[in-house]
Amino acid sequence: MFKFRVDGREITAQTGTSVAAAMLNAGIHTAAPLCGMGVCMQCRITVDGVAHVRSCQTQCREGMEVRTR
Ligand code: FES
Repeated sequence: MFKFRVDGREITAQTGTSVAAAMLNAGIHTAAPLCGMGVCMQCRITVDGVAHVRSCQTQCREGMEVRTR
């Protein structure tokens, strides 16, 4: 288990969890996934300043900073 931030909110995730799954588990539905397999681009977020990252295809890592807007 480790922690990272989504729009300034600290959430907990397990190793191997996608950012999309961790966000849903935390009740965050902004930029919610649609296809879940990297095709639709509905789940785009900004990770550590890098825009247009697909949350369904990105594993969580400790200390990462996610922005949904
Ligand atoms: S949910 Fe479709 S690309 Fe991520």
